[in-house]
Amino acid sequence: MARIVGMVTTSHIPAIGAAIAKGQQDEPYWKPFFGAFGAVHAWLDKVRPEAAVVVYNDHGLQFFLDKLPTFAIGAADEYRNADEGWGLPVQPPYRGDAAFSWHLVESLMADEFDLTTCQEMLVDHAFTVPLKLLWPGAGRCPVRTVPVSVNTIQHPLPTPARCLKLGRALGRAIASYPEDLKVLVLGTGGLSHQLDGKRAGFINRGFDEMCMAAMVEDPDALARYSIPQIVEAAGSQGVELVNWLVARAALGPRVAKVHSNYHVPISNTASGLMVLENAN
Ligand code: DHB
Ligand code: FE
Repeated sequence: MARIVGMVTTSHIPAIGAAIAKGQQDEPYWKPFFGAFGAVHAWLDKVRPEAAVVVYNDHGLQFFLDKLPTFAIGAADEYRNADEGWGLPVQPPYRGDAAFSWHLVESLMADEFDLTTCQEMLVDHAFTVPLKLLWPGAGRCPVRTVPVSVNTIQHPLPTPARCLKLGRALGRAIASYPEDLKVLVLGTGGLSHQLDGKRAGFINRGFDEMCMAAMVEDPDALARYSIPQIVEAAGSQGVELVNWLVARAALGPRVAKVHSNYHVPISNTASGLMVLENAN
């Protein structure tokens, strides 16, 4: 049977990808951010996932305002990246696993989550940058991937409570896959940030620290927030926190924290990193 080896959540700021491309990881601006990934790499070496379910939000590369699914899932054997600007090199295609994806789709549908199924899906920086942080080597990402995109762009957005329920259903879907497969769940985005408008550059360390503690102890507390409350507390792009909630909820109620880091700012964003495992 498939088994979730754990969960990683990390920011997906495009400037990180540009810094990787330029080899700036050890520069003073970047070191406090990249330095925190050594522990993640050591943990990945230990748990050795074979597949990654990546919960992220597309920013207009695949979906635009004319047609924007609340939840979408890739069901293909390959996903392509494309030029979004930002100084990001286009990444080589990512391996998918259509059979695993369709199992997830069937299970989620039976669990009353009807995701838009995508047999072609361009994946943007919110998918590529975190995978590069986890597996920084040159060339192709070494694990099979399943992209799961959540609308955090065009309101109305799914509530945090709905995203928590999706994560629980995703956890059940992964655990019921009959093939032996070690699965990492990756949630990308956040933490507090606002990229435009009067509050551009807004960051709320207190709220972010509360969120990181609640990810371990009480994710239901985060699910009680409304989207407007998260916008107020974390900025208009801080709503990417819902991707973290989906990933967290795929794990069981009791988790152990393997590693975490919080660093402010990278670009306009408070960057948060967490590695959690199911507690025995
Ligand atoms: C930034 C953050 C994001 O989440 C994003 O999608 C794009 C840019 C930033 O901080 O620059
Ligand atoms: Fe983003």
